[in-house]
Amino acid sequence: MTKHLLIIAHCPSPNTQMMADALLRGAQSIEADDLECTLKSPFVCDAEDVLNADAAILFTTENFGYMSGALKDFFERVYYPCLDQPKLNEAKPYALVIKAGLDGTGTDIAVHKITKGLNWKEVSQTLLCRGDFKEEFIQQCHELGQTIAASLDADII
Ligand SMILES: Cc1cc2nc3c(=O)[nH]c(=O)nc-3n(C[C@H](O)[C@H](O)[C@H](O)COP(=O)(O)O)c2cc1C
Repeated sequence: MTKHLLIIAHCPSPNTQMMADALLRGAQSIEADDLECTLKSPFVCDAEDVLNADAAILFTTENFGYMSGALKDFFERVYYPCLDQPKLNEAKPYALVIKAGLDGTGTDIAVHKITKGLNWKEVSQTLLCRGDFKEEFIQQCHELGQTIAASLDADII
């Protein structure tokens, strides 16, 4: 049966678009016949997308010390519909990537409060890409996409 990895990424700038593309490219670099990787904006993701996904990567900028409005809007729309479907929602494997100008901790804390409420299972430490854009952010995103996809394919997560 085909497994689905959903990358939910808010990309308000060229740098963040490159990072999201690297997450997807990394995930797609895994040689797996039955793995489908999708990149979507949080604005167009709904609860059905989440419930149909076997794992998710969340990518947000930090704005005003918090997650992007786009990711918050996503959580507000999917939170109760996901809790209503425990068989498809419980222990959903996920990883979080934050792009922050200076900090990122407010976003890290806020997202974890919500994912704890959702009973999701974090499968990798937060990737916090902070400060001026660096090429290494692309490499880190590529590696994370690859790791999550490979772990999903191998039934490790
Ligand atoms: C309205 C606004 C608020 C922001 N607030 C924060 C913040 O509270 N903390 C932080 O670390 N960065 C903050 N930033 C910086 C963004 O995180 C940064 O612009 C984003 O990661 C995109 O990075 P880039 O400029 O490399 O594309 C803010 C940016 C904007 C536009």
